[in-house]
Amino acid sequence: MQDELRDHLITQEPYYQPTADEVELYEAAYSVRMPMMLKGPTGCGKTRFVEHMAWKLGKPLITVACNEDMTASDLVGRYLLDADGTRWQDGPLTKAARFGAICYLDEIVEARQDTTVVIHPLTDNRRVLPLEKKGEMVEAHPDFQVVISYNPGYQSLMKDLKESTKQRFGALDFNYPDHETEARIVAHEGGVNEEMAGKLVSVAERARNLKGHGLDEGISTRMLVYAASLIAKNVAPLAACRMALVRPITDDPDMRDALDSAVTTFF
Ligand SMILES: Nc1ncnc2c1ncn2[C@@H]1O[C@H](COP(=O)(O)OP(=O)(O)OP(=O)(O)O)[C@@H](O)[C@H]1O
Ligand SMILES: [Mg+2]
Repeated sequence: MQDELRDHLITQEPYYQPTADEVELYEAAYSVRMPMMLKGPTGCGKTRFVEHMAWKLGKPLITVACNEDMTASDLVGRYLLDADGTRWQDGPLTKAARFGAICYLDEIVEARQDTTVVIHPLTDNRRVLPLEKKGEMVEAHPDFQVVISYNPGYQSLMKDLKESTKQRFGALDFNYPDHETEARIVAHEGGVNEEMAGKLVSVAERARNLKGHGLDEGISTRMLVYAASLIAKNVAPLAACRMALVRPITDDPDMRDALDSAVTTFF
């Protein structure tokens, strides 16, 4: 392994509870270096999954949190001015391509489309990255792979991936796990027993049914883990649920009361 990537190697197994055959499918995709898109709502395990897979495959992981101010240079690199003049510095995408990491572009739709297109030559059979300012053509390392995340709920027509971007990727759908699996995750991550975790999951299931009926997004696994960790610190379950599950997702008093009463059904 190249020194440049040593810091990006994940040495401890990130806990990940599979929900279907996503681990095997991802391994197959990686074996042919297929660029992958992880789709699913916030807090359902996409980031944890890619960390787990990088660990399992023994490959370094470089994560980039995308936003609308991000430019192509932020991904690719730029000349920096220092005492001896100018010096080229690889951006995270270039570093991953050059030395062979998995490059995870989180929330890629947040980036402007003229930024997104820089991944095009890396995500088709060319597997190259032209550094125009430097006049260099970087050939991707055999271990290199691009992974992007995508929340299908959030897109407006203005903010969606170009079809030519989407069609360069294989995609895996993520969602909240089934009751038993999610309870196991919440118990493990939040430090509560499975009975308590199961009740929290039941609250979330109520709220998820209200998605589209006054709620934009259901209660995520991440929120359940928060609530559980408060309970594990001896916060009363009712207060923990109100603070970690209900208040963050709604400003509407009626919806808040409806969710609060769902909480009291279980606690
Ligand atoms: N299948 C799973 N196995 C283990 N932990 C999970 C799983 N799904 C969710 N979690 C827990 O939920 C938390 C949130 O998951 P994660 O950060 O991966 O969400 P995400 O899908 O990347 O969300 P976002 O779109 O907001 O980035 C994790 O920190 C972990 O505790
Ligand atoms: Mg994430």
